[in-house]
Parts: sequence; C-alpha cells; structure tokens
Amino acid sequence: MKKNTTTGDVYILAIESSCDETASAVVKNGRQILSNVISSQIDLHTLYGGVVPEIASRKHIEKINPVIETALSDAGMTLDQMTAIAVTYGPGLVGALLVGVAEAKAIAYAAGKPLVGVHHIEGHISANFIEHPELEPPFVCLVASGGHSHLVVVKDYGEFEILGRTRDDAAGEAFDKVARAVGLGYPGGPKIDKAAKEGNKKAIHFPRAKVEGSEYDFSFSGLKSAVLNYLNHAQMTGEEVNVADLAASFQYAVVDVLVTHTIAAAKERGYDKVAIAGGVASNSELRSEMKRACRKAGLTFYYPSPVYCTDNAAMIGTAAYYEYINGTRSGWDLNAVPYLKLGER
Ligand code: KG4
Ligand code: ZN
Repeated sequence: MKKNTTTGDVYILAIESSCDETASAVVKNGRQILSNVISSQIDLHTLYGGVVPEIASRKHIEKINPVIETALSDAGMTLDQMTAIAVTYGPGLVGALLVGVAEAKAIAYAAGKPLVGVHHIEGHISANFIEHPELEPPFVCLVASGGHSHLVVVKDYGEFEILGRTRDDAAGEAFDKVARAVGLGYPGGPKIDKAAKEGNKKAIHFPRAKVEGSEYDFSFSGLKSAVLNYLNHAQMTGEEVNVADLAASFQYAVVDVLVTHTIAAAKERGYDKVAIAGGVASNSELRSEMKRACRKAGLTFYYPSPVYCTDNAAMIGTAAYYEYINGTRSGWDLNAVPYLKLGER
C-alpha cells in the first residue's frame, strides 16, 4: 500500500449501476460521504418477482443524469471540483453496468478527469470504512449479497485473499427464492427478516450444508430444496404452514453457517477483526448473531449501516479513493465485465 502522495483533498464522484439501483455519491478523502443518492427500481421489478435485466438497463439510462446532478448538488460541489470519476465496471448485469461505464467515461473525458474502474465487491467491503475511521486492514470480511457469498481476507486496501465462496446459490438469492416460494414477494431478504421477528427460529430444523473438503465454502441450494420440500409436504398433507416460524428457521439456518464459517476463518487465520458486507449484511439476525459470536471469541466486529450494505455509490467512492491513491487509472477502453473476479483488473 502506497501512502497518499496526492496534495490536497481528494474528491471522488462515484457511479454505481450494476443491478437495480442507479446511484451516485461524492466522497471526500475516502471516508467522508458528502452525498449519497440512490434511485431504486425495486417497485418496478416487484411486478415481475425479480430483476428484469432489460428493464434495469432502460431505467438506468433514464435516471443516471439526474442522479449524478443531485449527488453533486447535495454535496454543494461542481464537476470541476472533483479529483476523479469512479464507476463500478463489474461484476453485475452487463447492460446495467454499461450504462454507468459509458456515463463515467463521457464525464471524465469531457471534464478532463482521471477515471477509476471499481470492482463491485471491493465496494461492498469498503462500505465498512465509511463509519469506522479506526478500521484498517487486515481483517476477515464476509460478503453476502444477492449475487455473491464470499469469505475474504482483506490483506490491504485493494488486496484480497478469497478463503471461500458459494458453490451454488448466493445467500441473498436463497432469501429471495424462499420468500417467493412462501408468497412473501420480492426482494425476499427484508421480507423474511421482518416475518422472522414474529416466529420461532427453532421451530423447524433445516440442514446446515457442509462442503466436503472445503471448510470455508458455502452451499445454500440444499437448504432451499429442504424448504421447498417442507412446503410441498405441508400442501400434500393439508397442514397449515406457519410462515413466521418457517422464515425464522430458514434465516437461522443461513445465519448459523455464515457466522460459524466467518468466526472459524478469523480464529484459524489469526485475525482479530471481522466485518460483514453486502445486502444480506443488513439482516438483523446476522448482525446480532455475528456480534454475539465475535464477543465470545474476543474479535472486534464491524458492520455498515443498512444503507451502505445494499447497493450504493458511496461504497464505490470509498474503494475508488484507495485505488486512486494507489495509482489505479482506467483507460478510455474501460468496459463492463459481468463476471469480473475479485482481485482481478
Ligand atoms: O448487495 P445487494 O444490494 O445487491 C447485490 O450486489 O446483489 O444485495 C441484495 C440482496 C438481495 O438478495 C436481498 O434479498 C438481500 O440482499 N437482502 C437481505 C436483507 N436486505 C437485503 N437479505 C436478508 N436480510 C435482509 N434484511
Ligand atoms: Zn451489491
């Protein structure tokens, strides 16, 4: 990690459009959020029970200019005052990513500013820096979102070692699929979280999947099938399903595995700090169980506010700051990379 050799303050205008949120933020010196504008398409996609990529791209095109203008005006700044323009270029939906990438390139070129392409997951992890000025790498981070479940060692800013990942569904995807199956709708995570508060998490025992020979990997498709089998069985026998109990028991099964793996990784690898990131990190059960387990294991636990867990551009601006002071610059040929791997450029 190089030290910041830039003179004066660094202002990043960040853009995020990898899935169903059009977002822009102005971030000062990496950790000070001057504005954070998010235009969500959730209501639109709820009609279809999930994100429709073509609709997402069209909506990004419609929203991106006003969202960026609002981010600048909320910060009380002009484009001229920005040090660099940052944008998520992967992973994500290709059409959605392209809108942000094309916009960022156009703005950076026209304003004569450097361009910094950011990895979406690096952004999620960096969300932890926003509200914890004392947090510095190294630490272990669990990243659980709609598209990803990774257990990562953050060795330094922008330097990662992936310890484990999901073999099938991402944690958030499992929440979304189970919610749809029980009729709670989209997006499933917050709906299950809410329903579970009224239920008993020990009411139904669902399996905790272990991945043979790989203690840090995850697998959620078996759990999803167990829930579907439970629902089918109830339907066939005419039993009434207690949705709150089912939501609480399913959520507990996911959280149990996420917490156990994360704590084991921190202890076995000798790290004393644990962080969580991604949409699922806003789950109330995950937050409280991880807090409890960290306290018991003598680990310091960090987690972002819910608004910085789900997709936003502030986290992209924070990640971009560390990339920028480390010398990362993207060319005018920057493209969307839908399956970009963490740590790859
Ligand atoms: O990070 P994110 O906004 O987008 C991706 O990069 O995927 O994560 C969205 C995912 C969705 O699957 C959503 O259901 C899940 O995060 N999620 C939650 C909660 N809030 C959002 N899952 C569990 N509990 C929540 N409270
Ligand atoms: Zn995300």
